[in-house]
Amino acid sequence: KTIHYFEEISSTNDYAKKLAQNAFEDGEVIIAGTQKSGRGRFSREWISPPNKGIYISLLLKPQISFENITQLTLFTALAICNALEEYVGINLEIKWPNDILLNSKKICGILTEISGEVDKINHVIIGFGINVNFDKVDFDDTLKNKATSLKIETSKTQDRKKIIQHILTVFDKYYEDYLNGENFENILKQYKSKMTIIEKNIVISIHNNTPASGTVIDITNSGALKIKMSDGSVKEFLSGEISL
Ligand code: BTN
Repeated sequence: KTIHYFEEISSTNDYAKKLAQNAFEDGEVIIAGTQKSGRGRFSREWISPPNKGIYISLLLKPQISFENITQLTLFTALAICNALEEYVGINLEIKWPNDILLNSKKICGILTEISGEVDKINHVIIGFGINVNFDKVDFDDTLKNKATSLKIETSKTQDRKKIIQHILTVFDKYYEDYLNGENFENILKQYKSKMTIIEKNIVISIHNNTPASGTVIDITNSGALKIKMSDGSVKEFLSGEISL
């Protein structure tokens, strides 16, 4: 597989988007030491201090349709989660759809960007950022309460390169199994066991709409969050942001 490494770049997702304008292999990897304009979901900034975090994008060309994208992001979260747990020897939690938490604080976020037609995807970019060796000073005041790093929680500097290798190996296996038609129920079962909000009351925000509250019932086979809303109706959300 081709790996593009940059000591400094604007955003690995933006670079992947450029690569996608020409011919590319399914699974090209873009890695940066730091990002000048790292992006998070909902147009937020993603802080990327030099050589302290993992900033990666995968450029993929899966033969799947739009409705399967949520499945793809869910198993990516699961793959990263399992790889980190194994490699670092920690216990992690997944916050639907794809935040990874350590001791209830965020250590990894995933930004998926898609291009193409509904039934013919041109490319999918999965960008993920992992707070590996961030120190407390790397987080500003608003982030301090919500985010942490592997180093802060384990009191140990972690080997970024080895972690990347392990994640890519684990991801490849999940990706191949998925494309080969492996049963998604199996993935879902594992995913749910890492998720702590089932049966809990939550608030869900979707882009410009007023946040709504309800009780999480389940995750559907397509990866949607199924919620019993406070007005009694049952709704499914393929994307969104939840808070407790
Ligand atoms: C989130 O909001 O939780 C998603 C964060 C995704 C950050 C990663 S870092 C590598 C890639 N390049 C970007 O600009 N963003 C993603």
